[in-house]
Amino acid sequence: MLTLWRNTAVATCDDQHRVFERGAIVTEADEIVWVGAEADLPAGVRPDRTIELAGRWLTPGLIDCHTHLVFAGQRAAEFAQRTAGTSYADIAREGGGILSTMRATRGASVDDLVRLSEPRLRSLCAEGVTTVEIKSGYGLEFEAERRMLLAARQLGQRAPATVVTSLLAAHAVPPGFQGRTEAYVELICRDWLPRLARESCPHPNPLPLAREREQRLVDMVDGYCESIAFSAAQCGQLFAAARALGLPVRLHTEQISNIGGSRMAAQHGALACDHLEYTREDDVIELARAGTVAVMLPIAWYVLADPQLPPIDLLRAHGVPMAVASDANPGSAPGASLQTAMHMARRSFGMTGAEVLDGVTRHAARALDLAATHGRLAPGYRADFAVWSVGSLDELGYWIGFNPCSMVVRHGEIVLERDV
Ligand code: NIG
Ligand code: FE
Repeated sequence: MLTLWRNTAVATCDDQHRVFERGAIVTEADEIVWVGAEADLPAGVRPDRTIELAGRWLTPGLIDCHTHLVFAGQRAAEFAQRTAGTSYADIAREGGGILSTMRATRGASVDDLVRLSEPRLRSLCAEGVTTVEIKSGYGLEFEAERRMLLAARQLGQRAPATVVTSLLAAHAVPPGFQGRTEAYVELICRDWLPRLARESCPHPNPLPLAREREQRLVDMVDGYCESIAFSAAQCGQLFAAARALGLPVRLHTEQISNIGGSRMAAQHGALACDHLEYTREDDVIELARAGTVAVMLPIAWYVLADPQLPPIDLLRAHGVPMAVASDANPGSAPGASLQTAMHMARRSFGMTGAEVLDGVTRHAARALDLAATHGRLAPGYRADFAVWSVGSLDELGYWIGFNPCSMVVRHGEIVLERDV
């Protein structure tokens, strides 16, 4: 079935950043087959269905390439401690932080996790998000990590979003391994990774992401490289084990210190490095050389309230692609709003509106290894779009707490409509 989406201003986010102010798109099933100025629509196109968009702006469906949205419990009491002056690192050292969410999450079944997390995912979807990365990392034992991944996959079936999963077992050192970090990393590499990498998923995405990774439980491997978590050498060991199993890697690093994480990740060809407040120019050069995406997480920056800013000018100068993500999690980024992150990336990090739009479309797709199918409007790409009741593209990442997204299209079908 051929669908014509007409009378719309299209921001393609393609290589030339083409914009068609009087544009149209033609889709066939889940795929885009034509994009351009409506006046140039080939005469032979005979749509089975025509959808009139009343001049509204249309972008690729947004991609939130870094979330921890599967978890149980909340950490409001810690937030109060932090606003009273205790640091994130001190709370973590005292057994709170990630370990506090671990305790709540270990007690939850897959069904509990799905029920608790679905509203968070739906709130992202309502903001125009059609692809979401979800990490494990609050189980920190085999079965609990596996339950988080299963819940993430089930969420991808319940909500209109493509879910990409990351195994983040190296998020914190769990009880029982205190003072024996090496033994924990060894356990992940030798036992958990091979078992989870082999496991096929009972809840595959309705449409395969990339045809070859159709039914995996784990799409990629993540780690937390910080003085309060894992060293660069330990994360390197994890990455070598992941790569040997054919899994791509990415890293949380340089959020509160610099212990060589991004340089190590670049050497392993990481898809993405995330946070990067303490990243220096020599690290940026390595990221540029490796083609690694720098994922900016301004909500976590704001909540941690450390004034150190990521080196946006250096990333820009060296041509490192920058993505922007919500980091939705109960500690450093409570909530689930990519639009808030977009606003803050502009206001607090000084990214331009165009950089932020790329950061939640084409560059976010690249961070998830989906650059060939997602994140831009071009023939052969997925028919995932967001439609906006805005007068100009500059309004994306401008509003705070007001959502101008009026329609979401996924795989060529309208999955959400809102009066705006
Ligand atoms: O991306 N920094 C490590 N991981 C998360 C926070 C997790 C948490 O505090 O629960 C982050 O900021
Ligand atoms: Fe994170």
